[in-house]
Amino acid sequence: MRALIIGGGAREDALSWRIAASPSCEAVSSAPGNAGTAEHGENWPIAATDGVQLARRCTAERIDLAVLGPETAIAAGVGDRLREAGVAVFGPNRSAGRLESSKIFAKRFMQRHGVPTARATIAHSLDGALRALEDHADGVAIKADGLAAGKGVVVVRDRELATATLTQWYGPAHIPGGGSDILIEERLEGREISLFALSDGERLIPFGAACDYKRAGDGDSGPNTGGMGAYSPPRGLPENFESLVFERVLDPVQRGLSAEGERYVGVLYCGLMWTRNGPLVIEFNARFGDPEAQVLLPRIEGDFAQLLLSVAQGRVDPEAVTFSSEACVGVVLATSGYPSSATPLHGLPRRLDIGGERCRVFWGSSSPNGEAVDVSGGRVLTVVGSDVDVERARLRTYEGVHALAAQLSGYDLTYRTDIAVT
Ligand SMILES: Nc1ncnc2c1ncn2[C@@H]1O[C@H](COP(=O)(O)OP(=O)(O)O)[C@@H](O)[C@H]1O
Ligand SMILES: [Mg+2]
Repeated sequence: MRALIIGGGAREDALSWRIAASPSCEAVSSAPGNAGTAEHGENWPIAATDGVQLARRCTAERIDLAVLGPETAIAAGVGDRLREAGVAVFGPNRSAGRLESSKIFAKRFMQRHGVPTARATIAHSLDGALRALEDHADGVAIKADGLAAGKGVVVVRDRELATATLTQWYGPAHIPGGGSDILIEERLEGREISLFALSDGERLIPFGAACDYKRAGDGDSGPNTGGMGAYSPPRGLPENFESLVFERVLDPVQRGLSAEGERYVGVLYCGLMWTRNGPLVIEFNARFGDPEAQVLLPRIEGDFAQLLLSVAQGRVDPEAVTFSSEACVGVVLATSGYPSSATPLHGLPRRLDIGGERCRVFWGSSSPNGEAVDVSGGRVLTVVGSDVDVERARLRTYEGVHALAAQLSGYDLTYRTDIAVT
């Protein structure tokens, strides 16, 4: 099989690494790829959102399977263009992808089909939004409708802060991602868990779970980021976790998708809050998370490329998925101004030595430049260690992080020191 990974972050490096290692994979290219994907195959200089160019090159290169990495590719309709060109695509078309790209679409879908989720009001104006605050005495999550790269949600306890945010959004600051529609949602308390399911258009099967760390600083301080670390499997969940989420969330989602004639193909990422009343959906994502993919994929056993192709062709084999019992912890190294600024870095060594065998590194947005690597800034690398349990995997990962930080001490890199501690 000839595969194409679309995107250029550490998630796509992990996807291309795992696909290249699959027995059924003959070649794996990436578009636009990065310094890591270049080790596994060719990087095409085509943007992840350019469906027309991607379709043209897929045809010329006889690509059998395309995997959509980032949500921007899905929302740009890249899946639709590639399917029109006859390529099997792992990732939904634009319409089904609205489960991620419109939070209001997703909320209405959940309400229509009895999927447990936070109580919410949809507002179209400042007046309506301020009125909605009256319904939520214990705080709210204010959510922009569209894709906003992690900047479209503000969670506040305090009515005054909520009012100030809304006044900004409907005033000078504008709503992140644009438009005038927002969600005002009850603030939930509990533990956050990411659960993954694969959907071949008809069936949904579970595909592991992870916990991720969104805030920039230790102790969940500082601004929200794209993600600073993750681990899998989550610790301390009830034994019936998977069957409960299946019964309450995945089954109704699947029934809802079929009732609406929507063929959803790819991974469905359920962001859940584990509350006193069980799991409530915070949001759906239509692709693997970054860095969640980096801690999920090393745990998968078997022919991963074949599995993704079977999903893309509408014939997923539930038996094909096996996860090793080992745990993985991932820690992201970012440039020090991240997320408010992204300073480009030049001349990083292409070969990084992190010692340990069960520790690997995935590159973020970057490009190889001879024996060096240039980085566009932001999230630079993810270090991932594996071991028999989360605690040992965490120690192994941080050994790798320290070795890497010493090698890259000339660069101003930062990372969280408490990933997988709590
Ligand atoms: N109803 C809610 N109650 C409490 N926290 C929330 C709620 N909704 C979202 N959050 C927090 O905000 C983060 C971002 O919200 P999410 O809906 O996942 O949007 P996005 O990932 O698109 O920025 C979540 O990971 C969660 O920590
Ligand atoms: Mg989220």
